[in-house]
Amino acid sequence: MARKAASSRKRRSAQGSRNVKESGNVKKSERRPLVAVVMAAGEGKRMKSRLPKVLHEIAGRSLVEHVVRAGFKAGCDEVITVVGFGAGMVCTALEGRLGGAALRFVEQTERRGTADAVGRARPLLESFDGDVLILSGDVPALPASALKKLVSRHRRRKAALTVLSARFDDPTGYGRILRDEAGRIREIVEQKDASDEQRAIDEINTGIYCAQWSSLATALAAIKPDNAQGELYLTDAVRLLLGAGERVEALLYDTPHEALGINSRQQLSSVGRRMNRNLLEQHMAAGVTVIDPETTWVHADVKIGQDTILHPGVTLEGATRIGRGCVVRSGSRLTDAIVGDEVTLLEHTIVIEAKIGRETKVGPFSHLRPGTVLGPECKVGNFVETKKAVFGRGTKASHLSYLGDAKLGKAVNVGAGTITCNYDGVNKNLTELGDGVFIGSDTQLIAPVKVGKGAYVGAGTTLTKEVPAGALALSRADQRVIEGWVERKKKKKNGKKSKK
Ligand code: UD1
Ligand code: CA
Repeated sequence: MARKAASSRKRRSAQGSRNVKESGNVKKSERRPLVAVVMAAGEGKRMKSRLPKVLHEIAGRSLVEHVVRAGFKAGCDEVITVVGFGAGMVCTALEGRLGGAALRFVEQTERRGTADAVGRARPLLESFDGDVLILSGDVPALPASALKKLVSRHRRRKAALTVLSARFDDPTGYGRILRDEAGRIREIVEQKDASDEQRAIDEINTGIYCAQWSSLATALAAIKPDNAQGELYLTDAVRLLLGAGERVEALLYDTPHEALGINSRQQLSSVGRRMNRNLLEQHMAAGVTVIDPETTWVHADVKIGQDTILHPGVTLEGATRIGRGCVVRSGSRLTDAIVGDEVTLLEHTIVIEAKIGRETKVGPFSHLRPGTVLGPECKVGNFVETKKAVFGRGTKASHLSYLGDAKLGKAVNVGAGTITCNYDGVNKNLTELGDGVFIGSDTQLIAPVKVGKGAYVGAGTTLTKEVPAGALALSRADQRVIEGWVERKKKKKNGKKSKK
């Protein structure tokens, strides 16, 4: 399987030229083609999940999406992802999120080891003369800047292979970097093949590399599964290339926590918390107040204007955009929401795929569902639910209402307990309220129905017919008053009792 985005060739040249421009100081030797190969075929058994490990999410992006994006951001002309477990799901997910980018996929049907995984990319890179960044689909927090450093050092030193290493307080499980007396990398030994002495080494292989493709491809072909796990180890390329007289280097990365791989739900949580913290730091640096970063969660694509205040326990998801000078109070969750300037969202407001105009107030306990569009200076209050409801400027629904499939003009007042009966069991029907309409409390609007400009609908009405502009509509029964009724009822009851 070798999927290819139709536009990938065009993209490649466009991106290539942009790189050179962006980093104006690139030397001639650095202007070589660069592609990434992302290893993402594993199941991730320790996740105990039906979902492939690399599709678990942090900050609203799958682990592998973080990695692929970093690859492009570091200047790769193309990213080749090696898929295996849940291959179709991984391809679909990446194409869905990064459609149009120069993505290609190769399948590794049997997990025979990391050397085999990278080797799968061979048919796609047959005539490729450049460098390859080898990335792991489960190392999501490594920034593009780290990859750029790796590539640039690799090229400066004219190495055949450069390994990104790090010092971990607990190196258990990782491959260890063995260096000679002069400090040059000699070999990588896997945990399972290492002696006690080697296991004491705290410099580990992050599993991220930069390699000259032609040299690496030759080494890959020579790798044998003669180790404790019977796997084809990519790490054996170090020994093989050195043996062939090629230059191999290890670059020690100084921010080890960014190189953490994710193998368990615990690691997913801790790497996720750190990434969330980083995102919040960036928002704070740009002028957003975050009262409690520990309980505030934002996705990577979220944008927030200056002087907006996020109270504890706020969650901002997807492509949510919030304007300037807003207040978002505790317990609110926004997903793919667009919020204007100076908006106040009181406690426990849920906004999903909805737009809110400037200076509008929503909440507490409001639920704005997809297709809701509130104009400026509106008010949506306690226990109000909206769906595909459009509000003109200054329109209010302050208490206990359901407004679905509704078009409300400007300065409409919706009384407490108003319900649009938008569903007749077969179709969804529209309710239209003109500018300045007043809807009394406890009203049912049986859609499709229209109320003309400035009309009034009396409290308790079940509205079934169109109301012309300026009229009053009322549908409740006339009130009866029966004087002395309670006394007479009591007497009747007492009479019955005394007979017994
Ligand atoms: C690998 C390195 C180890 C390094 C560690 C960093 C080898 C032999 N060892 O070990 O030195 O410290 O990463 O995390 O390379 N994968 C495939 N196909 C395969 C095998 C793996 O796509 O056949 C993918 C996995 O899905 C994963 C990545 O490659 O994304 C790393 O594989 P993993 O099995 O986790 O390697 P480690 O044993 O952790
Ligand atoms: Ca791993």
